[in-house]
Amino acid sequence: MLKLDWKPDKHADLPVYLQIIQYIKEKIASGEWPVHTRLPTQRAMAEAWGVNRSTVVTALDELKAEGLIESVVGSGTVVSNNTWSVLASAAPPDWMSYVQTGDHPSNMQTIQDINKYESDPSMIRLGTGELSPDLLPLRETEEILGSLRGRLTHLGYSEPKGWLPLRKAVSGYLRTRGIEASPASILIVSGALQALQLISQGILRQGSGILLERPSYLYSLSVFQASRMRLLGIPMDDEGIRPESLARQKQLRDAALLYTIPSFHNPTGTLMPEDRRRQVMAICERERLPILEDDVYGELWLDEPGPLPLKALDQNGLVLYTGSLSKTLSPGLRIGWIVGPEPVIERLADVKMQTDYGASALSQLAAAEWLRGNRYEQHLKRVRASLKERRNLTCSALSRWFSGIAEWQEPRGGFYIWLRLEQARSMRTLFLRALSEGILLNPGYVYDQTDSQHMRLSYAYASEEDLEHALYRLSQLLRK
Ligand SMILES: Cc1ncc(COP(=O)(O)O)c(C=O)c1O
Repeated sequence: MLKLDWKPDKHADLPVYLQIIQYIKEKIASGEWPVHTRLPTQRAMAEAWGVNRSTVVTALDELKAEGLIESVVGSGTVVSNNTWSVLASAAPPDWMSYVQTGDHPSNMQTIQDINKYESDPSMIRLGTGELSPDLLPLRETEEILGSLRGRLTHLGYSEPKGWLPLRKAVSGYLRTRGIEASPASILIVSGALQALQLISQGILRQGSGILLERPSYLYSLSVFQASRMRLLGIPMDDEGIRPESLARQKQLRDAALLYTIPSFHNPTGTLMPEDRRRQVMAICERERLPILEDDVYGELWLDEPGPLPLKALDQNGLVLYTGSLSKTLSPGLRIGWIVGPEPVIERLADVKMQTDYGASALSQLAAAEWLRGNRYEQHLKRVRASLKERRNLTCSALSRWFSGIAEWQEPRGGFYIWLRLEQARSMRTLFLRALSEGILLNPGYVYDQTDSQHMRLSYAYASEEDLEHALYRLSQLLRK
């Protein structure tokens, strides 16, 4: 309900109804009352402002005539227009031309649609790369924050590499992943996505070539393209990036970096086995090609622990490593890390300082508490158990309804199944059809622009009931 904490001045020269018009226009122009905002009833306004109802009616009629508000059956009076040209006497700047000339690339339309519909609670999100809300540890995080009472010691900016106690906690945690990294070689970032951004801006030359798996999460972003870099996709098989193609591409195209997601790859779910990891490392060592290893899903094995990260095999400082709490604990904390040679970490820390002066102090505190002791490991056990049930349920639903129309591999961890349709088709049309049935899909072309035969399914987000229902409906759509 709108607050009417204002009163017209009955002694002013300006008539009261004009003061009311001015007041409502200011609320609309400032954006406090956006389009579709419902105004209070005429009686409520008259009472709040101490005026006759007829005065309110006169003011509202004027605003209606100007096209700023309208009566809607069943909703009363609502704001219908906030166009500056209606409100302002001087012509506004041409903001659209600013919007069109901004240098940063826009998201692909389908990604903009996905971002928009993800906040619609009536949608079943069948491809979302996020844990279901009931898997996020709300009560435990509340307990952690409560336990800080009387212990809160820092609320200022952190040092460039991030709050030292958190870097120490991350260093201890990384040891459990086979990675020896001193706090000085760790940079705390606001999520792994920021790691990619800092690396693209901080240590790579404009126009560089970036080798990566094709398909890849990275194709869904413009972090590297925003700096005019070229993404050079390398084919995958069911063990990840193909080593012979990697060796060939590096020689042919003189790339600056290999970006890879060896564990529970986004979007294919592929887990690179240990011998493939060693092969990839050997090629990169021979070619002196740095690796950026994205390990945000590495902890989410479902049947047995996966092989150690590439970083754990790294003897020569070849690998920059990024991880995050987003896929396991909370994407909203916005806490991740980069591990690498100290000069690189210092450079990236400097770029981060210029970007945002560091990650949130409260998030860093909470993350440090989570990572100390075995609290995080206990939480991971619960997440793995639940994801495993969801994966099993999804795979059996697929066997029931998708045989003959699609193929898939049962993933051994992470969130995703890369569903391959038997027949290529317009995936945008399928996306829109599913949307009209309340199902939000992640089509394959988001991760490889040339794709017309895949979609990324995620068993991590939707409820088990919704997963089954949406998969059934999707199979019906595909069979039509
Ligand atoms: C492979 C991969 N890397 C990085 C990210 C970004 O994670 P964060 O929330 O930590 O920025 C995602 C999120 O979808 C991802 O799938």
